[in-house]
Amino acid sequence: MQPPTTITRVLVIGAGAMGSQIALTAALAGHTTIVQDIAQGRLDAAAAQLRESTDKMVKSGKLAEEQARRAHDRLEFSTDLEAVAAAADFVIEAATERLEIKKAIFARLGELAPPHAILATNSSTIGSSAVAGASGRPGQVCNLHFFNPVLVMECVEVVRHAGTSQATVDTTVELARSLGKTPVLINHEVPGFVANRLMGAVQKEALALLAGGVASMEDIDATARMALRHPMGPFELMDLVGLDVVDYIAQATYAATGNPADAPDESVAALVRAGKLGRKSGTGWYSYSR
Ligand SMILES: NC(=O)c1ccc[n+]([C@@H]2O[C@H](COP(=O)([O-])OP(=O)(O)OC[C@H]3O[C@@H](n4cnc5c(N)ncnc54)[C@H](O)[C@@H]3O)[C@@H](O)[C@H]2O)c1
Repeated sequence: MQPPTTITRVLVIGAGAMGSQIALTAALAGHTTIVQDIAQGRLDAAAAQLRESTDKMVKSGKLAEEQARRAHDRLEFSTDLEAVAAAADFVIEAATERLEIKKAIFARLGELAPPHAILATNSSTIGSSAVAGASGRPGQVCNLHFFNPVLVMECVEVVRHAGTSQATVDTTVELARSLGKTPVLINHEVPGFVANRLMGAVQKEALALLAGGVASMEDIDATARMALRHPMGPFELMDLVGLDVVDYIAQATYAATGNPADAPDESVAALVRAGKLGRKSGTGWYSYSR
């Protein structure tokens, strides 16, 4: 089945950090957007948080009050996948990063979503080939990978697996553009795609420089900011992303490649074991006063 050329109804699965922001982005762009989660509490929290976000945007003059009102009118929240999947043109799965959860979601979407619907996953570490078969429509499956914070970050990665159809790629690229994003196309499913691989390479080098006593983390961060014009240094970025997430990505990459050079970094793992997860826990590489 050919994907539709015009996407009107977007279904976002998962109302967590990413799903909620993706949904608001889609609603602000004019799409009727449904957010589905298994936990009503997560949906309620997301709805409240999105109100707060748009209130702030209105206050700071980034968004007109009327635009905010219309975006919220376009947003729906539901725990009932069966009811909401039937009318979706495009599904963006942003549920918990566990393969068995995602496989089960794609299997259900394959049964419930209209035959033309594209099923994309926002996963950072699970290539869509791992869930495409379960959906029964592998040609209409790809990764559509957003960056956090979604409302601010311009880039999205569109990652095709070997069986993703060209029509699916074209429609996904078009949808990303309709969301005001700049899509980049990744032709092969490689662990970390492009952005996280680049970030991982810089992080790895930064960790090696620190371990070798070549420079302090403050000076390594300052160099990245001032000499390379990165908005923040690699240690600051790891704290922002969350050291548990950094460690998890490294573990997943290592599991996929088996390359000793990709093995998780021991100093990051030690911080995670000590509960020092970065900004969210108040301490990571740096300390943050709450
Ligand atoms: N956090 C990031 O910075 C980031 C960046 C890019 C991509 N991602 C990807 O986005 C996805 C979500 O990450 P997150 O950080 O938003 O996670 P999160 O833990 O904040 O949210 C996950 C949500 O999924 C819901 N969920 C779990 N099982 C479900 C199911 N069967 N059906 C519907 N909802 C279900 C949970 O209730 C939760 O609300 C992951 O695949 C992750 O790799 C995350």
